[in-house]
Amino acid sequence: MKKRGIQYVVKKSDGFYPSEEMKKIANITDPQIYEKAAKDPIAFWGKMAKEGITWEKEWDKTYVEKLPYFEWFKGGKLNFSVNCLDRHLAHPDKTALIWVPEPDTEPSIKISYEELHDKVCKFANVLKANGVKKGDVVSIYLPMVPQALIAMLSCTRIGAIHSVVFSAFSADALKARIEDGQSKILITSDGYYRRGKPEDLLTKAKNAAKKTTIKKIIVVNRIGKKVRGRRFLNFEDEIKKAPSYCKPEMMNSEDPMFLLYTSGTTGRPKGIVHDTGGYATQAYWTCKWNFDLHPEDIMWCTADIGWITGHTYAMYGPLLTGATTLIYEGGPDFPNPGRWWKIIQDHKVNVFYTAPTAIRMFMKTPQKWITKYDLSSIKILGTVGEPIDKESWMWYFRTIGGSRCPVIDTWWQTETGGTLINTIPGIGPFIPTISGKSFPGVKHIIVDDKGYPMPKGRQGFLAQQSPFAPGMLHGVFNNHKKYVSTYWEKFKTMYDTSDGAYLQNGLIRITGRTDDVMKVAGHRLATAEVENAIHDNKVVGDCAVVPMPDKIKGQVPIAFVVLKKGHPSKDLEQKLKKHVDIKIGPTARPARIFFVEDLPKTRSGKIMRRILKSLLIKEEPEGLMTLVNPSSVEKIKDTITENP
Ligand code: PRX
Repeated sequence: MKKRGIQYVVKKSDGFYPSEEMKKIANITDPQIYEKAAKDPIAFWGKMAKEGITWEKEWDKTYVEKLPYFEWFKGGKLNFSVNCLDRHLAHPDKTALIWVPEPDTEPSIKISYEELHDKVCKFANVLKANGVKKGDVVSIYLPMVPQALIAMLSCTRIGAIHSVVFSAFSADALKARIEDGQSKILITSDGYYRRGKPEDLLTKAKNAAKKTTIKKIIVVNRIGKKVRGRRFLNFEDEIKKAPSYCKPEMMNSEDPMFLLYTSGTTGRPKGIVHDTGGYATQAYWTCKWNFDLHPEDIMWCTADIGWITGHTYAMYGPLLTGATTLIYEGGPDFPNPGRWWKIIQDHKVNVFYTAPTAIRMFMKTPQKWITKYDLSSIKILGTVGEPIDKESWMWYFRTIGGSRCPVIDTWWQTETGGTLINTIPGIGPFIPTISGKSFPGVKHIIVDDKGYPMPKGRQGFLAQQSPFAPGMLHGVFNNHKKYVSTYWEKFKTMYDTSDGAYLQNGLIRITGRTDDVMKVAGHRLATAEVENAIHDNKVVGDCAVVPMPDKIKGQVPIAFVVLKKGHPSKDLEQKLKKHVDIKIGPTARPARIFFVEDLPKTRSGKIMRRILKSLLIKEEPEGLMTLVNPSSVEKIKDTITENP
């Protein structure tokens, strides 16, 4: 079945470069664009915003910086949903969204721009009828179903701030986010399909909403559960009753559009605030240039809408550019490991964007599940979320891309709103393990811990310099202190990414987090969050969680627990793991829990997680001199060896 598609890359001695075919179609091919934008980044972004986004009123000032805050397109007015929908209505029948349900007995659904516009207007009216006003926070706890996109866009229609919570997160995690945002409305579903079975979501949603500000729960009927009660509304029934047009609320460019929570180093999730105009500009242009998206393209970003990647590339970016986005409800290997590849073949996906953890999983699957499908529609492959090793990059390039397509290794964060460091398909080069250059008009620098530039080629901290990219966060919701301490305390005038990096021939290679944050199967988790959950158990005296390298997931959490007294009961490890599932979600579950007598600590009482990390990977730990209890290290080493 395998067919060869168009050859988009050519091989040169130092990597792959765009072929003539790629240059012919690419939205940008000028390698000088970096220098041109760098001459006056503010003017550059002003031009980009004018060209890419539809404004109701133009801004008075392109960029205002008063650190640690900065604003783009000040005084400008726009509505985000108009940019995603109304402005594409010249082609009303064009497919905006393809939804692939998990059960393969259910057909895929195509929703045109006109239909999506209609549903969004109606659901926006439902929200209004239920008292939602401009500036209110609306919580969304939905799986990958079209209603998730409708709900999010409806919020932007009326200027409400959406706060999407990953559907695999626990009731406790949802509750914490509802409480922080003080939302009155929760949009959820009765459940969803995962690996062939209906999964309940409503029970978690109900439990989370108890004793919070939530007044109404709007439920999407997905698995046919009966939902009764005064607080509940049915999503589709309400849409049917609603008026069909909703006038878009014109927002200031710098008005908040959404919150997205991310693990903080202290354990309490931080509500990252994104604005409207700056975010829209970056989402639009990164889709156009980094994924070379054209209106006729179909983009499939496999990320869940619970993550920033799902927000910007499974949804907003493709819609802003008038292209088609594909979303899939279910597990990647259901009913068999060919599912993803069959979806690409059936729907002729052009741009495919996924995480290294998925790539590593498919490298281990019998390859016949992949090679039997025709993947010749693919033009561009993207990866995100964690560093990708050379072997996985090459496998992705050869097996999925047929050695024809550029692999774009995009570095970015929840905080940056859109991709920031990667190679542009029409420019190149595409080199395994190298992300590339900062997006035109954005400046990154690699520095030491005092903020001084590192010598070329040496590893250091990755920082962003002013003017900050338009899609960057606008603070931490109701927590100025946290915003300052996390991003600005270290380098003052530069944004601290908390990632390590070095330069290789002028291109950036990311080495990973420099703080106590793990990436588990691409999911970002603070070690402190898992530690807090383990601490809930009264027998636990002390606890440290550290990431350990894992062949598929990239990293997995490992916990070291000191009991208040006595020995662990037989089922304690299971109990603690289960509690982490309930408190955070299964992604945070420690792969192992080691019960130890003591944890390595400095004189000031700080746990030396670095030493635990070294012990796990069987490296000789450094810095034992600084410990008050160096003998703990040998004992922990023995525990690890005795309990492999
Ligand atoms: O450590 C970096 C890693 O993911 C972190 C951000 O995680 P999150 O906010 O969940 O957003 C992920 C999706 C945008 C970063 O601080 N990371 C992201 N992309 C890459 C990466 N590490 C290496 N290479 C990448 N391409």
